[in-house]
Amino acid sequence: MNDQPSQRLRILSGMRPTGKLHLGNLVGALENWVKLQDQYESYHFVADWHMLTTDYANTSELQENIREMVTDWLAAGLDPNKATLFVQSRLPEHAELHLLFSMVTPLGWLERVPSYKEQLENIKDRDLTTYGFLGYPVLQAADILMYKANAVPVGEDQVAHVELTREIARRFNKCYGPLFLEPDVVLTRSPRLPGTDGRKMSKSYNNAIFLSDPPEVVDKKLATMITDPARKRRFDPGNPDICPVFDLHKVYSDQVVIDRVNRECRTAEIGCLDCKKLVSYGINDRLAPIQERRKPYERNPRLVWDILEEGTERARRVAQATMAEVRATVKLT
Ligand code: TRP
Ligand code: SF4
Repeated sequence: MNDQPSQRLRILSGMRPTGKLHLGNLVGALENWVKLQDQYESYHFVADWHMLTTDYANTSELQENIREMVTDWLAAGLDPNKATLFVQSRLPEHAELHLLFSMVTPLGWLERVPSYKEQLENIKDRDLTTYGFLGYPVLQAADILMYKANAVPVGEDQVAHVELTREIARRFNKCYGPLFLEPDVVLTRSPRLPGTDGRKMSKSYNNAIFLSDPPEVVDKKLATMITDPARKRRFDPGNPDICPVFDLHKVYSDQVVIDRVNRECRTAEIGCLDCKKLVSYGINDRLAPIQERRKPYERNPRLVWDILEEGTERARRVAQATMAEVRATVKLT
């Protein structure tokens, strides 16, 4: 399908295999990928080696997490007939390119990446003072440049990594001869999506609504969601501007509902329970087709692995061709 040389521009993006995906992943990345697959020649992969840079000590659930995440990709509408879906670690070419890039990447570039220091400081339950973790963006550069991607659809937090990828491409080209093009960032529009505790929705905060949550579970999670803390009683007026439930309305409800909540919350005409029911409708409506699409993959996980295997073989042809060029350019042949 994607074997013919294509006129379309190529995009590539990866996701660390965290298991089941939630609404935050959907608005943050997946919806964007699904939209782009009609326009671009798309490559999307499971960044399992990237997962190891922080979670090397606990790999017991890795394969299960890969399966669950890719099931959600397919459920959300990524179409294996349009996009190439693959697993990073099945392609040793990525490791080889990472190694060669590590030769030309100054340590200072890596130490300056904002997420590096940030995570070193914030993640206290794992030892991240490793060689692999420092080299995280070098591996990411290898992922991207391997496919000569024109653009990389990512969120704000990944922009520095793509910047570094461009620098590595430039440095390599200058050292050995022009081979790589510098990819652009396609910034993903993503409204801040709060979890049930009001913090950013995140699996590790235990505040997430998952794509696979049935309607009753969504209702239950919303019922416990925090609201405007000043609104203690039914007849207290509230302020939607500081209420995380209203943030969900903005993403999942019709304009009519949004306007109504915005008005009736301030006058205490609507209560929080009813307001939450309305947002439940919106979310469950959005999730219904996703949950319908996931059924065959859930029933038969083999389908998911087959799709990944086929995509991996397609990716391998590109990766092998690039590495042949790279080895020649570096004078390793
Ligand atoms: N670092 C990305 C993240 O944490 C995942 C990733 C790995 C990636 N390789 C990539 C994203 C290449 C885009 C392109 O989300
Ligand atoms: Fe929040 Fe809705 Fe309650 Fe207003 S009515 S405080 S928007 S949950």
